[in-house]
Amino acid sequence: MAAKTLQTAAVVSIMLLAFGIAYYAGRHMARESFIISAQDSALGGAGSVAEQNFRAYGHSVRNLDMRRWRTFAAGKAIFDHHWALRMLAPYYNARSCSACHIHDGAGGAPGLDSSVVAELIGPGVTVASIYRHAEAGAPPVGTWSFRWESNSDGLVRPDVRFCLAGTASSCGEAVSLRIAPPLIGLGLLNAVPDSEILAIALLEAENNPATAGLARRVWSPRDQRLEAGRFGWKSSSATLDDQISSSLYKEMSLTSGLSKLGPVASGCSPKVQDSLFDALSLYCHLLAVPDRRNLGNPLAARGAVVFRQVGCAGCHRETLVTGADKAFPELSYQVIHPYTDLLLHNLGKGLSDSLSDGEAPAAAWRTAPLWGIGLRETVNPNARFLHDGRARNLDDAIRWHAGQARAARRNYELLSKEDKECLLEFLRSL
Ligand code: HEC
Ligand code: HEC
Repeated sequence: MAAKTLQTAAVVSIMLLAFGIAYYAGRHMARESFIISAQDSALGGAGSVAEQNFRAYGHSVRNLDMRRWRTFAAGKAIFDHHWALRMLAPYYNARSCSACHIHDGAGGAPGLDSSVVAELIGPGVTVASIYRHAEAGAPPVGTWSFRWESNSDGLVRPDVRFCLAGTASSCGEAVSLRIAPPLIGLGLLNAVPDSEILAIALLEAENNPATAGLARRVWSPRDQRLEAGRFGWKSSSATLDDQISSSLYKEMSLTSGLSKLGPVASGCSPKVQDSLFDALSLYCHLLAVPDRRNLGNPLAARGAVVFRQVGCAGCHRETLVTGADKAFPELSYQVIHPYTDLLLHNLGKGLSDSLSDGEAPAAAWRTAPLWGIGLRETVNPNARFLHDGRARNLDDAIRWHAGQARAARRNYELLSKEDKECLLEFLRSL
């Protein structure tokens, strides 16, 4: 009897040991394969491109179906088109998309170039652009001005003031400064299924409710339903087409076919015909993400580990997978490394302004995608970081993180000089 018990005990311990080894190996392998995938240089999947100069953001995806090449070129022409003033009247911020999205990249800070826009909430709730230019005798919407303020740790921020035209008493409305974000890889982000974004939000809420992001639901004029917002600094548009239609209207008062279905209902025939809109849309969907560089650089490799250790990857999620996209097979089923969870996070008082937008509080911003960030200043030497361009460099950008990112920022500040440099080297390699 005793021998039998001993035998059973031995079998059970061997099984437990085997399970233990398998479990450990499984975990270890999963971790290894995760590391290998994040080391992938093709940040934007099969369409990623190798170019590293100032045109690095302006290429079509490498796997572009060649039959679409002409439409892509036509889309670029519309993107660069300098619109006639009579088309833009009465209000506009700039005369072409490329005046703000310089070389398809980010805009500079207020004062550095004119790509910064200001938005406000008027008496009628919707977020609108404070147009910079008025034509044909139209009264200006108002005036906005800003000055740079420095805080004790050497960081600077623009302090903006807005006054409605004619009424000095209405100065101080809710107002928000925004710079133009870079336009690479947006078709890929558009192809991430809503279900994946919602699943990430659930996962974050389960793992760490204190830093969990919010999946904002917004009305899509194109799809005529509520969907997961993902475009704009506050995720105010769900699809890239909705965002383009809103950019046309908000920046250049150009209506398109979608305008009728959106919040800015217009009875007139659209100024931008469907064929032009479709080419512009194809262009914006298929702008490629540049490859990661310096994969062999030991500092950048160490930096990738530090990035995870200090908690950056909790929001700047390394890997997402796109779903089926019937209109754009080039973008379907791609493993991509955008370094965002596409969710809104509260980044604290310092980054807050006075403008909330729907479900998004004033201090909440979409986790900015970090792919291509190392080339941002190569593409536009005036380019800055964070939603209003206050960050002069990557170190500034990280030091502004607070609110839900407070712990990650503290960990960053406590790093040794060497590890800090490794982390920055890693960001520059993206
Ligand atoms: C006056 C400057 C300006 C002009 C002109 C302009 N944009 Fe933008 N664009 C911006 C700003 C600022 C944002 C961020 C808006 C926000 O977050 O509220 C933006 C956001 C976008 C986004 C979302 C990017 C993302 O990462 O979510 C797209 C796409 C876009 N613009 C495309 C266009 C297209 C296409 C045109 C031309 C029809 C255009 N823009 C014209 C300033 C401009
Ligand atoms: C709680 C979520 C969260 C964590 C953690 C976090 N970030 Fe961010 N990050 C954001 C959000 C949201 C933004 C956009 C903020 C804005 O524009 O005002 C952002 C912006 C940035 C930017 C500027 C991007 C641009 O396009 O201008 C950089 C660089 C950056 N983060 C790096 C880091 C690093 C490095 C870490 C780790 C030390 C980190 N972040 C941790 C949410 C987070």
